[in-house]
Amino acid sequence: MNTNVEYLGLKLKSPILAGSCGLTANVDNLCKLEKAGAGAVVLKSIFEEQIIYDIKRNTHVYAPVGNYGDSYEYIAQHVADDSVSKHFALIREAKKQLTIPVIGSINCFSYENWLTYAKQFQDAGCDALELNMAIMPFETSLSTDDVERTFSNIVQSLKKSISIPISIKVGTYFTDLAKFMQQLSWMGIQGITMFNKSMQIDVDVEEEKLCNADSLTYPGELYNTLRWTAILSRRLRCNLCATTGVDNGLDVAKLLLAGASAVQVASCLYRNGLDYMRTLNDELKGWMERKGYESVDQFRGKLAMRSNDKASMLMRTQFMNYFADIK
Ligand SMILES: Cc1cc2nc3c(=O)[nH]c(=O)nc-3n(C[C@H](O)[C@H](O)[C@H](O)COP(=O)(O)O)c2cc1C
Repeated sequence: MNTNVEYLGLKLKSPILAGSCGLTANVDNLCKLEKAGAGAVVLKSIFEEQIIYDIKRNTHVYAPVGNYGDSYEYIAQHVADDSVSKHFALIREAKKQLTIPVIGSINCFSYENWLTYAKQFQDAGCDALELNMAIMPFETSLSTDDVERTFSNIVQSLKKSISIPISIKVGTYFTDLAKFMQQLSWMGIQGITMFNKSMQIDVDVEEEKLCNADSLTYPGELYNTLRWTAILSRRLRCNLCATTGVDNGLDVAKLLLAGASAVQVASCLYRNGLDYMRTLNDELKGWMERKGYESVDQFRGKLAMRSNDKASMLMRTQFMNYFADIK
């Protein structure tokens, strides 16, 4: 029995990837994840916001009076280069020490920086690139078309400037989620990663101020991922990597049955430690053995929605007694 899969044109020994998060920001952790059976690792994203924050903080340190004169551009570039080169050092070291694919991750908001960084990621040796395009539709001045056009413009330009496989990591905030995911998959990308979990906010009722909510997901969040994986997997012209809410190996089996090509995990590694990657793989293999499957291909997509299945249970949203167990 084997758990080999192909994802983004890369051959993986396991469909379970360590998703981009703080745990994938250092080489020791990456080696531990490989040893515990990760099929690939997605590095912690490089965030344009973080680089800009570093620039602001450091230009202040270099010139506390705030009068940078002609040197501002120089210092800002120096700080940006420093932040970025630390990240590339991580990529290079990871490529040296790991045998599994290393997937870089970028989160930018300015068009030019997406292109610059993507090219540098490729040059640093990444096997593929995941673009964390968590564009939230906050602006009332932006229409659905404006938001979707941003995706198309970036993807089309990236396709021209790099040759490594590209996956787009998306959130759920689209007017027409199914249609847009399909259109995205037609743009020549190799994968879509669904769904990004954005930072949540909470309210501190004593202080009466906004604060960060718990950043880890909880197991029940799997159901949304599962539904959309099953609805979309047969309709995309690229791989679908499912993420958010995976807590055990059976969750991985569910997403593969729903048609995911691969699955990413983060929160359960934070909760249980890096070696939990081994448990996830063992649980998946245990289930496959019980069911008599010798390879992932034998069951992957078995429960994915067929295009003519208009009455699919996946499409039910109301709590009708007939369909729900709750009376
Ligand atoms: C602490 C933490 C940091 C994260 N950092 C990133 C990041 O840098 N880039 C990214 O694309 N996703 C990031 N994520 C999101 C994860 O990659 C993943 O998509 C999300 O947590 C859902 O998967 P999970 O339910 O297994 O946690 C982060 C998640 C956590 C919990």
